[in-house]
Amino acid sequence: MRFDAADATLILACAKGAPVSILYWGAALHADTDCAELKGLFARQGMHGVADVALPLSLAMEPGLGHPMLHGFAAHRAGKDWGSLFEVGAVELREGGAKIICRDERTRLGLEYEIDFDARTGVLRIRSTLTNYGATPLDVSDMMTACLPVPDAMTDIIGFTGRWTQEFTQERVARNAATYLRENRSGRTSHFSYPAILLAATDTHESTGDAYGFHLAFSGNHRIRVDSLTDGRVLVSLGALLLPGEVQLAPGETFASPEIVAAYSGQGLSKLSRKFHDHVRAKLLCPEMRAKPRPVHYNTWEAVYFDHDVEKLKELATRAADIGVERFVLDDGWFGGRRHDRAGLGDWTVSRDVYPDGLGPLVDHVTKLGMEFGLWFEPEMVNPDSDLYRAHPDWVLGLEGVEQVPFRSQLALDISRPEVADYLFNAIDAILRDHDIRYIKWDMNRDLSHPGDSSGVPRAFVQVGALYALLDRVRSAHPHVEIESCSSGGARADMGVLAHSDRVWTSDSNDALDRQVIQRGASFFLPLEVLGCHVGPAKCHVTGRRLSMEMRAATALMGHMGLELNLLTERAADLDVLKNAINLHKIHRALLHNGDLYRLDSAPQLIASGVIARDKSEALYSVAYVASDAKVLPGRLQFTGLDPQRSYKLQLVWPTNWLPIKGPSAIEMLDLKGKGAIFSGTALMHGGLQLPHAFPETCLLFYVAAI
Ligand code: GLA
Repeated sequence: MRFDAADATLILACAKGAPVSILYWGAALHADTDCAELKGLFARQGMHGVADVALPLSLAMEPGLGHPMLHGFAAHRAGKDWGSLFEVGAVELREGGAKIICRDERTRLGLEYEIDFDARTGVLRIRSTLTNYGATPLDVSDMMTACLPVPDAMTDIIGFTGRWTQEFTQERVARNAATYLRENRSGRTSHFSYPAILLAATDTHESTGDAYGFHLAFSGNHRIRVDSLTDGRVLVSLGALLLPGEVQLAPGETFASPEIVAAYSGQGLSKLSRKFHDHVRAKLLCPEMRAKPRPVHYNTWEAVYFDHDVEKLKELATRAADIGVERFVLDDGWFGGRRHDRAGLGDWTVSRDVYPDGLGPLVDHVTKLGMEFGLWFEPEMVNPDSDLYRAHPDWVLGLEGVEQVPFRSQLALDISRPEVADYLFNAIDAILRDHDIRYIKWDMNRDLSHPGDSSGVPRAFVQVGALYALLDRVRSAHPHVEIESCSSGGARADMGVLAHSDRVWTSDSNDALDRQVIQRGASFFLPLEVLGCHVGPAKCHVTGRRLSMEMRAATALMGHMGLELNLLTERAADLDVLKNAINLHKIHRALLHNGDLYRLDSAPQLIASGVIARDKSEALYSVAYVASDAKVLPGRLQFTGLDPQRSYKLQLVWPTNWLPIKGPSAIEMLDLKGKGAIFSGTALMHGGLQLPHAFPETCLLFYVAAI
């Protein structure tokens, strides 16, 4: 079965009675190329010391294949029926995809694959569903969604790791004979193991070379592995990580694995990202919200923390509106006994201690200023010091007889229990009904360290489905309310949750230098408009670093822009700079939030990227000088992604106070800060602009418009 996109081809081997596998996935093949031809080319000879036949690979890599190195599926009935071998029974074709129905009569199991290959983007999506047709329960201990082959020329593995305030850190390692394995048991997407991986050739960079990308659209425990088989074949496997006993299928029951979203690029890593962005935009984000310009945010967290004072908040709102903010988000601290992070979580009623007249006066003040109002919730959690916990101590996840792991003084609720989900929905619904609220920041600030339910059964996997269901319930009751997924910064920023929300909080670090790296990492999978990017205070609360407003604002401007600083204490001159930056963001917002992202290769002292309009009529390029340079001048900036047939006017639009350090730079010589200069697309793309010498911690923004 063959599927084609403009630059990629997928061929599935799904003959009846045989295992299902991928025969070919990579660069587009000529229409005349047939499967027999490929099978001939791929023929494998025998070898001493291994099986006498070339063992087939399958999407499941189930034990019945007899493969000595890798199993992607493990299930049994009280120690029996463990050796499944799935054979294709039927294939149902549909537009751009197929359902492949496999069966194993011996173990009485069914395995169905739903495979979609987007002809426009070449994005491949795979889901698998297991059914127990037997008469006894089945214990599923492991089930990768799929094990997918990549060419052995993919010698490099790029994983994404990190910690709180250092999310999306890339780690590029050479593939070797050992299995590359990432496991996440935190019960959320996690800071340390982003559920995605890239495989690339050694010489693959941002704009050149072959690469394959894989993302598991799931916000819970996961396993990602890359196996280099000794016969030269390479398999990339992704799936939910199941805890012992977590998935038990009664006769007739099914287990659906989370979806893998994957893509191939023959034009480097940036092209791979553009495919993922296209997928997020077209398939995950809701069209009504996509059509609306994303309002510039003001978030109160770093300005006031738990020190809520209505008059001060109103003053902040007024200042925010003055400089162009369009949405005011009231963060943690407005409810129950939440005067610090050790109490109140779970009690979702407005605190009369800090809001004697309720939230109404603040909401009215904000909306009268022409801004939308947004509100923070952390629905899945409870502080032991709360009315909710005192009333329902049995609602939390845990392990009987084992002390809870301390984690921000809070415990996780078992939201898979209908009464818990109902309580949370009703609480959120009541607040949304009573106020003109257009936005929820939905937080989740601890790992599910002991995800046992009240009967002791592990419930980490079902928490994720219960979360998605709760988000959907809130969304369908309040379709005009946007939802941001936050988890101690960016610990829940994946394609699974984005199918049920509108934006992610990328990181709790608002340090622009760190943010340049974090946002670049996140951009491998997520388009800029879903990445919450805020301007932090002059002295960053997380790193203690002081950065200019020009640098802070330019960094936040390249995503979904927001502010998270005390507008009452920042310098007036800085607020003017900020106002200009917000204005510049609004001018280019449609371009940034709909255009194609080209991350650029550069020396390590620079971080550069451009967003190019789909019709190539305009582009905005950002060059951040993140460290000192041992060279006299930095390299030339090549304006990748333009139309070689067109001419463009080039201008420097940020910082507005740009001054050369010594002598005129190309910026002055070409009057780029003034009326700009005109060049051919090819000169800009292949020649490039000699970048000026600039202080480290400077960020230049160039606007390029076709003439
Ligand atoms: C988490 C979030 C922050 C903030 C706090 C509030 O850490 O990532 O942005 O909302 O919770 O407690």
